[in-house]
Amino acid sequence: MHMEERRVPMMEPFRIRAVEPIPILTRAERRAALEAAGYNVFNLRSADVTIDLLSDSGTGATSIQQEAAAMVADEAYAGSRSWYRFVEEIEDLTGYPHILPVHQGRAGERILDAALLGPGKISISNTHFDTTAANVMLTGAEARNLPCPEAADLDSDQPFKGNIDLDALARTLSGPDGSRVALVLMTITNNGGGGQPVSMANMEAAKELCARHGIPFILDAARFGENAWLVKQREPGYERFTPREIARRAFDLADGTVVSLKKDGAGWGGGFIGLRDDALATQCEANLIATEGFSTYGGMTGHDLSRLAEGVREMVDPFYLAYRADAADHLATRVREAGVDTVRPSGLHGIYLNAGRLLSHLPPQRFPGHTLACQLYLDGGVRCSELGSLYLGELNDRNEVVTPAPYELVRLALPRRVYTQSHLEYVADVLAGIAAKPESLEGYRITHAPPVLRHFKVRLAPYGAA
Ligand code: F0G
Repeated sequence: MHMEERRVPMMEPFRIRAVEPIPILTRAERRAALEAAGYNVFNLRSADVTIDLLSDSGTGATSIQQEAAAMVADEAYAGSRSWYRFVEEIEDLTGYPHILPVHQGRAGERILDAALLGPGKISISNTHFDTTAANVMLTGAEARNLPCPEAADLDSDQPFKGNIDLDALARTLSGPDGSRVALVLMTITNNGGGGQPVSMANMEAAKELCARHGIPFILDAARFGENAWLVKQREPGYERFTPREIARRAFDLADGTVVSLKKDGAGWGGGFIGLRDDALATQCEANLIATEGFSTYGGMTGHDLSRLAEGVREMVDPFYLAYRADAADHLATRVREAGVDTVRPSGLHGIYLNAGRLLSHLPPQRFPGHTLACQLYLDGGVRCSELGSLYLGELNDRNEVVTPAPYELVRLALPRRVYTQSHLEYVADVLAGIAAKPESLEGYRITHAPPVLRHFKVRLAPYGAA
């Protein structure tokens, strides 16, 4: 395809036709906004955020093709043209005979988990995403993560640190808990594990183990295009395949998938469950109709379906993916030059900062990751989220951390096609300012913590404050 001849490194492969002004606040305004938010960035108004790197989910820019498709969408209750456009595209991408539309990924998880899991059962994953684990637990089942040992070394450049630990998986399946395992869920790319990819070889081996034990092997394929891109770059034998072909191979390996289309669907909402098994699909469809919507829209509008049918094609375009990889690499390089280590090698959907190392004077009890995230907001209006002891640590009844998370990370998630290189330069500059005097930061303490999915609704105060 002569890709190298056509590619211009470090240049956005699109021009901008509709723009949205960016809010720029004074330091005093940001301080007041963060205080009013209980020092939890999830409580900030987006009107108070200059660069929003909280999530790459449902935050992308659409294309003129997507908007044109949306304009001629069909909003019929059942069997709309938009549905047929969507389902034909998704069938062609994935090969699954049963496609059940849902309004976003976690709705698909809830429906699939209700069919497969329940009290006493176990879901195994390379790493469950936070809401994914919560959906498993809501059925009464256990969510067990088995990341590969290489994932523990944040600094190594091993290519597939998103893999599942195959030895641990084999041991679990043939051990005393084996009969309770009802699902193996492979998250591609591994969002909870630093946005690292999973190799095709790892998926094949995990699938084989599952088949031997009669356990469904399901992909959480929210970032199917990005995983495929990293396989193409890093796994011998895949260089000549297109990202779409590689994604298809992954779907071919699995018994089914749950996909949030808010990522590699370039949608503001949407998702689907893909299944091969007729009986399981029928069971899920009944739940879908009762809770999401009829099986030809599942909580999505016709214009969502039409936009997504275009979006899934655009998100596996090699020129787009090459640009996205360049942008992530460039930000990671700038950040490291500023003296802040990142989880290596960099993935595509976000840069994970090693806040524990930068703020090594702060113990986990003062939430170094959260402290860094708050400072990025206070100094530059940059919003991002902590993945450390605030999110994963165990607390006592006074809301103090008793068992810290293994790492204190901060994720700078990259919305698709939204921020230009100069925006990312700005983020790196703000971070460099913090990295120049990290000792001045004192940390935070929790004032209120909800029992589940704590990080979304927790409230805090600066450590020294009354
Ligand atoms: N699986 C993965 C790997 C995810 O990253 C997400 C969402 C979901 C499932 C749930 O999908 O949001 O459509 O219900 N991740 C977002 C994030 C929220 O910021 O990483 P959803």
